[in-house]
Amino acid sequence: MPTAPPAAGITIRGLEVVYTTGQGQIPAVNGINLDIVGGQITGIIGESGSGKSTLAMAMMNAVPHPGKIVKGSVIIDGVGNMMTLDKESQRRARGRHVGFVFQAAQNSLNPLTRIGHQVLDLGRSHNVKDLRALLRRAKELLERMGMDADRVLTSYQHELSGGMRQRVGIMFALVLDAQIVILDEPTTALDMLSQASVLEIVRSIQEERGLTIILITHDMGVVADLADRVIVMYGGELAEEGKTEDVLAHPQHPYTRGLIRAIPRISGNLDQAVALAGSPPDLQTFVQNACLFYDRCPERMAQCQNHRPPYEIAGPGRKVACFKVMAK
Ligand SMILES: Nc1ncnc2c1ncn2[C@@H]1O[C@H](COP(=O)(O)OP(=O)(O)O)[C@@H](O)[C@H]1O
Ligand SMILES: [Mg+2]
Repeated sequence: MPTAPPAAGITIRGLEVVYTTGQGQIPAVNGINLDIVGGQITGIIGESGSGKSTLAMAMMNAVPHPGKIVKGSVIIDGVGNMMTLDKESQRRARGRHVGFVFQAAQNSLNPLTRIGHQVLDLGRSHNVKDLRALLRRAKELLERMGMDADRVLTSYQHELSGGMRQRVGIMFALVLDAQIVILDEPTTALDMLSQASVLEIVRSIQEERGLTIILITHDMGVVADLADRVIVMYGGELAEEGKTEDVLAHPQHPYTRGLIRAIPRISGNLDQAVALAGSPPDLQTFVQNACLFYDRCPERMAQCQNHRPPYEIAGPGRKVACFKVMAK
């Protein structure tokens, strides 16, 4: 029996994205090196503003103005470097090789065209030969997510609720059979129960097709339930990564520990869930040479005030950016 080719991964090197604003330059993604492992679900977690969405858009070379990718490479297996490919190859990669739901996807459906027509448009723009089969596939996905597919396909966006639009967004990300799928906060408009069942379906489709999924969320509970690996972002940089069970059982970065403590379901005691104190880094923090987490860190040391900790290997499959951890 022929062995299946290894699932496509993504190799990110030295990636930098800056937003130029009236207040100054925001380093939203600041020199990130990351390997997204093929055939797994990678959760990317961090507070609002930590750069998760910008990283996701940069992986597609699709950062909107006033953001700009200033450095780095994103090599997608089977596609190439998104930063240097010609525009047409980039366009074909988006959707076909890499399916995605960006965070604003709720609003990015075309308001003037029925959902079914948009599926056909998507198919045509990627030269799909069998458009009937594509529609069947769309229907099947919508039904799996508990929707009345015929009704949805003949609807306009404004006729659907926020939760329905999010599920339609997930359908669009999956319908072209992309090997890599990026889902940015895909279930925030759903109640807890629907969120759990939609994510369960995403998991089963991932297993059936051996997909590589990047799941972005601010909810550590979602990561705990679904992700094989977890990447923790803070202030546009990576704070920690590893296998989900390792990171949850033995978080090394004080920020990761804070995120875990803030989840009642995981800390095991509703009364003991503690929100993370302090606020995310601002422009002032970025220009200093201190650890980005310095102001909020319960374990800071003298060294942390004058140096940025490097992101280093901290065990099998583990990396962390923390002087305290490295000193042990
Ligand atoms: N369009 C924009 N203009 C200016 N700054 C932006 C824009 N989009 C994001 N940012 C800034 O970039 C940083 C990262 O944002 P984002 O990637 O959306 O983070 P996350 O998805 O983790 O919430 C934040 O400081 C945010 O304010
Ligand atoms: Mg976001």
